[in-house]
Amino acid sequence: MTTNLFTPIALGPQTLPNRIVVSPMCQYSADEGCATDWHLVHWGQFALSGAGLLMIEATGVNPEGRITPGCLGLWNDAQEAAIADRLARVREFSDMAFGIQIGHAGRKASAFRPWEGPGHYAPGQGGWVPKAPSALPFAEDWPVPEAMTEDEIAAVVDDFAATAQRAVRLGLKVIEIHAAHGYLLSSFLSPLANRRDDRYGGTDENRRRLPLEVFAAVRAVCPDDVAVGMRFNGTDWVEGGLGADDAVALARALHQMGADFVDVSSGGNAPAKIPVGPGYQLPFASRIRREVGIRTIAVGMIRSPLHAESIITGGEADMVALARGFINDPRWPWHAAEVLGHAIDVAPQYRMGATSLNRPAAAR
Ligand SMILES: Cc1cc2nc3c(=O)[nH]c(=O)nc-3n(C[C@H](O)[C@H](O)[C@H](O)COP(=O)(O)O)c2cc1C
Repeated sequence: MTTNLFTPIALGPQTLPNRIVVSPMCQYSADEGCATDWHLVHWGQFALSGAGLLMIEATGVNPEGRITPGCLGLWNDAQEAAIADRLARVREFSDMAFGIQIGHAGRKASAFRPWEGPGHYAPGQGGWVPKAPSALPFAEDWPVPEAMTEDEIAAVVDDFAATAQRAVRLGLKVIEIHAAHGYLLSSFLSPLANRRDDRYGGTDENRRRLPLEVFAAVRAVCPDDVAVGMRFNGTDWVEGGLGADDAVALARALHQMGADFVDVSSGGNAPAKIPVGPGYQLPFASRIRREVGIRTIAVGMIRSPLHAESIITGGEADMVALARGFINDPRWPWHAAEVLGHAIDVAPQYRMGATSLNRPAAAR
């Protein structure tokens, strides 16, 4: 039986076999920004999952762009080689598509790894002074960032482009620019964090300038067969912050500039009460898809296969991304296929454990 969740989709120049994305998930397990064997295990398990795309975690475009000292980076040759090595080993066993999310942590940088507790590394003690649109901390007790000069802004645009070039060399066919969750590009977009009075702040158009410059620079260095898109907030969930209209306007601008997809998340620009529940960010994605007509990835508490199927069938999004659902069930697509009565192929070594639907007809 064919289900809409398991129908192939063109994400710009890339055709993916189904609508399921392993959402980017920071692992805080890099060494000087270099991927480690943790990444081999992490990517390897999802490469056998049957998902249509795995988006590698938020990857810093420069040292201050990492959220924690343990975050992945892609600004030097050692980091490129470390990803190349782990990817090559995963690709021995899976031809699943890999993309990468590239980002800069902005005022939320220099943080402890989550399991080290809340807090930040001080400059000189493993940490650094975070950069931001304005010298405003995310919240009380957070480090006060340095407001970026226009030269520093231009350098960050170059850093995104240089990282994208490395991603292209790595054979990654989907690049997602991280402009969500209050990190640098997200904070430039949000009036809660951006109080600049130059051409990067003030009006809506000015606050969109940096993310759009980054998009243009990344698009310009990517060959035609690489899909380029952006993850951003559907809302900040805070009065006076970004809302659904802003998200539609950003999606429209990206669409006009040739973006292949958007990935709609929310929150992170200020402490907020977020009404987390199944599909809680979906209305923002579906409005963008309806009004702008760009390929749209929905994310946020999508756990039930029937829900995922209904999102695609109802035209609310083109793809669904799962993060926590995949941690909990690394073979979620097998189980979704089973629920939806769809046959997918699995690695021959694992066929004995799969249901009959997960085996090719000849092996049933
Ligand atoms: C461990 C973990 C790491 C995450 N790291 C990232 C990240 O690198 N980039 C990003 O945009 N979102 C990140 N997220 C957010 C997820 O991609 C996803 O948007 C969010 O968890 C909601 O989806 P879910 O309900 O399926 O988990 C992370 C989430 C988790 C649980």
